[in-house]
Amino acid sequence: MDISKRLLIWYDENARSLPWRGTRDPYRIWLSEIMLQQTRAEAVARYYDRFLARFPDVHALAAAGEDEVLKLWEGLGYYSRARNLHAAARQVSEAGGRFPESVEGLQALPGVGPYAARAIASIAYGARVPALDGNQMRVLSRCFAVERILKTPFDLEAEATACLSSDRPGDYNQALMDLGARICTPKKPKCSSCPLAPGCRGREEGEPERYPLRPAPAVKREEARTVFLIEAPRGICIRRRDGEKLLGGLYEFPSAEGWLDRAAAEALLAEAGFGGMADFTPLPPAKHVFTHMVWRMQGWRLRAERAPGELLQADAEALRARAFPSALRKYREIALELLDGFSPVSEDSPLKAPSECDKMA
Ligand code: ADE
Repeated sequence: MDISKRLLIWYDENARSLPWRGTRDPYRIWLSEIMLQQTRAEAVARYYDRFLARFPDVHALAAAGEDEVLKLWEGLGYYSRARNLHAAARQVSEAGGRFPESVEGLQALPGVGPYAARAIASIAYGARVPALDGNQMRVLSRCFAVERILKTPFDLEAEATACLSSDRPGDYNQALMDLGARICTPKKPKCSSCPLAPGCRGREEGEPERYPLRPAPAVKREEARTVFLIEAPRGICIRRRDGEKLLGGLYEFPSAEGWLDRAAAEALLAEAGFGGMADFTPLPPAKHVFTHMVWRMQGWRLRAERAPGELLQADAEALRARAFPSALRKYREIALELLDGFSPVSEDSPLKAPSECDKMA
């Protein structure tokens, strides 16, 4: 029996029950594939249902404001996905609401790369294309004991295409995803439960975990940052990150490159327009690992009588209502603790119009 037949028999009995399974609606499939980029299926499920309840179709998503889309995405990470999702929804909605059906057409949408385009085309439209991701790469490289160093899953295109099911390509692709997630795991694969074990060359050789052979990982750049929790008269100072930058469109506390001691921090803040500063207290360090870099953060908490007008001064409600990156979760929790019991000086809304504070990174 060939690989795809054995795989599909296994899938029919063992497919994970995930909320995007059992539909061929391209909007729902597209949304799931974007959310699943770099994120585990189990983590996505909760976000997916909530997102669909608010945006049941592409027109509803296209009509939303970016802040609301980012807020619903908060915690999923890789926020450029949410901004691209929104841009793609507008594009599709303006064109009448029909998604492209070809791999090339799908890949022309913002945020849809070659993997997602193939996954969507195979699942929603039955296109006969493999969707090569890390899971497929692991399973197939073990099955065929591939001795080449694989830079990307697409280096396995030939093997993947040879195994592809001709009548159920969407299920075939998802079966490989599930097998890779549950059975053919990176460490300690459960070969005794694997439908592909008969004929798996990696297993026959006795060391399936040796595959796939990968190039040495690139060393991540480390960036030191100083984060400021500044209690101004009407709340804690926050600002919106520039839309084009890493984490663009999300909110953050003012921060600066490098680790600044108290004197350097005070000088920088004075230059940025803060006045009447007091009670400098060090904040605990925090670390956040992105795909390509690491932030190592330290920080200062302080009071300021005057803050630059372009920063927002947020009370607890305003802080909770805005999307913050997970990288700043620890500092946001501290800010919320500080704000409990905080009463603003004026009864006006604590929020001012946002714009960038250009003195700080
Ligand atoms: N990862 C990427 N796409 C997926 C899907 N359709 N099902 C489960 N995991 C996935």
